[in-house]
Amino acid sequence: MENEKSKILIFGGTGYIGNHLARASCLLGHPTYVYARPLTPQTTPSKLELHKELHSMGTTFVLGELEEHEKIVSALREVDIVISALAYPQVLDQLKIIDAIKVAGNIKRFLPSEYGSEEDRITPLPPFEAFLDKKRKIRRVVEAAGIPYTFVSANCCASYFVNYLLHPHEKGDDNIVVYGSGEAKAVLNYEEDIATYTIKVANDPRTCNRVVIYRPPKNILSQLELISLWEKKTGRSFNKVYISEEEIVKLSETLPPPKDIPVSILHSVFIKGQTVFELREDDMEASRLYPDHEYTTIDQLLDIFLVNPPMPATAAFG
Ligand SMILES: NC(=O)c1ccc[n+]([C@@H]2O[C@H](COP(=O)([O-])OP(=O)(O)OC[C@H]3O[C@@H](n4cnc5c(N)ncnc54)[C@H](OP(=O)(O)O)[C@@H]3O)[C@@H](O)[C@H]2O)c1
Repeated sequence: MENEKSKILIFGGTGYIGNHLARASCLLGHPTYVYARPLTPQTTPSKLELHKELHSMGTTFVLGELEEHEKIVSALREVDIVISALAYPQVLDQLKIIDAIKVAGNIKRFLPSEYGSEEDRITPLPPFEAFLDKKRKIRRVVEAAGIPYTFVSANCCASYFVNYLLHPHEKGDDNIVVYGSGEAKAVLNYEEDIATYTIKVANDPRTCNRVVIYRPPKNILSQLELISLWEKKTGRSFNKVYISEEEIVKLSETLPPPKDIPVSILHSVFIKGQTVFELREDDMEASRLYPDHEYTTIDQLLDIFLVNPPMPATAAFG
């Protein structure tokens, strides 16, 4: 399929992860379509700019709502592969995409909106568990419908989480919060690599009806290792402010929804860690599947942040 340059339709292609997917799809030479809501006078200038940019890269926009079944079916009939990167609140709206895929009958691969922890192999605190349950539901519906799929476990978006943890734009603040002991290993993957791997995965016969985990060896590190690396690069010494596991668990039980979700994600990612389950021999891991792709390591990402610190991050987490 890779040689034929499959046509790819992306839902949520103007979003945080989706815009990287659309770019990667264009850069890898795929005729790329983005199903997006129509532009209105309320559309933000940054979204307008993104539409223009993706259009200039070759993206064809299909403007419509998720409720427009016939329009979605028509769009699906023009393509081979569907990738969803819809926002978390729209996860169950993907049932509408699945219904349309069943009617269209031509889709060779569907990747639902996931891109996080491997939901079938962890049991996090209840607020995050409820969050993942919706994504698991989509997995089960896709499987039951017999739609060829790939489920992507991309672990953490590196720019987002490194920015959140280290706040590199704040030159005068020497405090860095550490969750738990700071020793659990997270997996931090640069957004552009997540997107490139995802387009490759979507086109790969080996990954049909499989889960692919993005766990490249150089991107597995603890918070303490991350801070130490940042100290070496900046020549600064940071004051670590520890928040205990008990405090985080308490917050997950007492904060009102949806504020209980980010702390539960922090608990899962940085206190339990994202390597709590071992990769089995038959697991598919992105950097092993695509050894020729030179992914951006955390070390390289910190060099980028040193020169060009990103805007302050908020704790939305998906
Ligand atoms: N692992 C990580 O670190 C990480 C980080 C962030 C997100 N994620 C996951 O990645 C996936 C995508 O998240 P994201 O943050 O990239 O999403 P996002 O930027 O918040 O939104 C993606 C797109 O969803 C569409 N959308 C938003 N509200 C909608 C509505 N009311 N009706 C219909 N469409 C709507 C929009 O597309 P249009 O405006 O073009 O219609 C938007 O661009 C989610 O599954 C999330 O959980 C993972």
